[in-house]
Amino acid sequence: MFLKTDFKFKKFELDTVDESVFSTDFDDSDWRVVRIPHDWGIEGDFSADNDATVNQIIEDGMTKPQVITGWTGGLPMVGAGVYRKWVKIEKTDKVFLEFDGVMWNSRIYINGKLAGQNHFGYKSFSVDITDFVNFDKENLIAVYAEVRENSGRWYSGAGIYRNIRLVSKPEKHIAYNGIWVRQTYADKGLAILDISAELVNVSGFTAKITSPNGETFEYTTEDDAILAEIKNPMLWDIDEPNLYTVEITLENGYSETVRFGIRMCEFTKQGFFLNGRYLKMNGVCMHHDLGAIGAAVNKSALKRQIEIMKGMGVNAWRTSHNPPAPELLELCDEMGLVVMDEFFDEWRLQKVKNGYAQTYDDFVKQDVIDIIKRDRNHPSVIMWSTGNEVREQIDDNGWKEARTLYDLVKATDPTRPVTNGLSHYPACYTKYMAFYTDIVGLNYKPHTYGDDLKKYPEKMFLGSETASCISSRGIYHFPAEIEIADKRWDDLAISDYGLMAPPWAYYAEREIAAQKDFPQVMGEFIWTGFDYLGEPTPYYTNWPSRSSYFGVVDLAGLPKNRYYLYRSVWTDIPTLHIFPHWNWENKIGENVPVHIYTNYDEVELFVNGKSQGKRTFAEKKAEFADKKEEWQNQVERFRLIWNDVVYEPGEITAVAYKNGKEAERKTIKTAGEPYEIRLLAYKESILADGEDLNYITAQIVDKDGNLCPNADNRITFTADKAEVYATDAGDQRETETFLRADKKAMSGMLVAVVRSDKQGNATIIATADGLISGIITFECK
Ligand code: GAL
Repeated sequence: MFLKTDFKFKKFELDTVDESVFSTDFDDSDWRVVRIPHDWGIEGDFSADNDATVNQIIEDGMTKPQVITGWTGGLPMVGAGVYRKWVKIEKTDKVFLEFDGVMWNSRIYINGKLAGQNHFGYKSFSVDITDFVNFDKENLIAVYAEVRENSGRWYSGAGIYRNIRLVSKPEKHIAYNGIWVRQTYADKGLAILDISAELVNVSGFTAKITSPNGETFEYTTEDDAILAEIKNPMLWDIDEPNLYTVEITLENGYSETVRFGIRMCEFTKQGFFLNGRYLKMNGVCMHHDLGAIGAAVNKSALKRQIEIMKGMGVNAWRTSHNPPAPELLELCDEMGLVVMDEFFDEWRLQKVKNGYAQTYDDFVKQDVIDIIKRDRNHPSVIMWSTGNEVREQIDDNGWKEARTLYDLVKATDPTRPVTNGLSHYPACYTKYMAFYTDIVGLNYKPHTYGDDLKKYPEKMFLGSETASCISSRGIYHFPAEIEIADKRWDDLAISDYGLMAPPWAYYAEREIAAQKDFPQVMGEFIWTGFDYLGEPTPYYTNWPSRSSYFGVVDLAGLPKNRYYLYRSVWTDIPTLHIFPHWNWENKIGENVPVHIYTNYDEVELFVNGKSQGKRTFAEKKAEFADKKEEWQNQVERFRLIWNDVVYEPGEITAVAYKNGKEAERKTIKTAGEPYEIRLLAYKESILADGEDLNYITAQIVDKDGNLCPNADNRITFTADKAEVYATDAGDQRETETFLRADKKAMSGMLVAVVRSDKQGNATIIATADGLISGIITFECK
């Protein structure tokens, strides 16, 4: 049973919580009522005071500590929180509370007594509360959580941000995450599965396997494992995510069901093969926050993230830099993505004062085992990453730690390879950490792939973190030139020409080139798919920047230009994407370069009917020398550029050719004054369960329906039979809380996150001073 509603909640200053708040006779009548999953950090306004710290980020090349702001999102998440809920618990032998994640250092009290605790905010855990419960009576569950400053390098969220289940079991039962479907062997004709269960006070079980098309197979054992032979298995694949289930039943009738998939994963020197087919991983790194709704897990928000990413050809996901919510893996199983499941951002050597290093020695071994046990049945999970850019890479003894974790992973799950996001070059080899991985994960090293492949013929490689190109949706700076530098602009935005990256990083095309030139490298994981809360590089000393610029789409889920680069390279979807917009009132007669992402062969560009010439792609192999001409060559392999265009209002048209014939044409017009709000709903219907989300995008258009690309009108949403929960324009500099129904648009757009607990047709209206309102309806079922 999920516990979701009627939690009383109060936030406190750190180190001020009196133990009396956990007791049954404490008066919580003036506390707020919240719903789980809950993130107390997302609720307030942004402020530099919320997370200003003095820090030296070695990874970013800082030579001395400085005051940085917005690094963890600028939201009020630091503090302690207490949740209280009364629940009647019926008589049973054993009762557990299963937590999918509580951010951080949680303590669980039942009827005033401490029943369990967990320090690692990203880990799932179970607490046996049997001895603390008064059966058939109301029991008080109280949960303490705290977030200290400097506990991570991004927005972690705060509190009970993932689901809780109350689980009753008989004396004879299966331990938490105790079932393991271990794929011993698989090919197209045969799969051998070793299915085991950690049995408590009992031995023997029946296992009923159900195939994706409903066929069933039954096995029984007297001990704790069976070996199942499945002929002609229906393989799980990214295109056809076939899922099996196994129900394990004990002699007393107690049963548990898990889902699994059968797939052939071959990690080879020639690259990665899924079910015998070469598969380049077109991956994204993703932090766990869900933008305007914070870290509180929401399956429909995760699903939308995945759908948007799949739209540009993403087939792989790195859960940077921590284990994800179980819902994410369920969706990857169902939607066909392969996952790099990552454990930590730091080991024993700390990156931040109150980070994982604090508890590393005490808990790391148990944490690794618990993470693997929770996630090992997911077919989407194809590899484990033991860490990201851990500082042990440059430590003489770092290899020992790498070895300990490598061996532990292998002992817990020998069926999947181990990787690690390595950034220090060549220290990762000369100090040996790279040799305690099966696949060397390289962060930001497209220029070393050629050498590494030659030098280490026994190793396999992938780009575990790539690009870190930065931009703000729909905003442009001139000149449109590649800048790999710590360069800042007064407007605290970064140009959407997609040519800018901080000093350790590079523009997107460079990695795409390297991945094409080195098919043996298993793929790349772009930093990042979506913008995320925190880490507003390069503006972490320039408040009010408070969210990242790295995303291919912005925090609200709206694509930046780069989205169409990946779509043009990673998919066959015909793509012809022209940028920038064509409203340059202050640049009449001046140069405005026009860039196009396309997968057509050739494009001719016209400005008000005048040809600007035809362009085709440069056929240049990468040299990976660090010089500007070479950079430009990489860019021009994947985008068409007209540098000499002179701006005049009107329209630009791109005419695309395939095999010499016109295949598509697209026009962008200079928009007139903002006139009307157009609304687009992400979904036609949602569940009226208060959790399923719809996303309504408001576009400010002129009287001919052209998007006004500079419009920043304040839009107010109102709803009937629905609730406007949050608004976000994807603006990294916005300081108003997400949780309000009005906000300023950015680059002509604003997104409202809406939900409903009433069945029927919901209506959303968007109004703004001087504009015709937008209205849209959708169904709530
Ligand atoms: C990497 C790091 C990421 C993020 C990124 C920004 O070095 O692993 O977590 O900080 O840089 O470019």
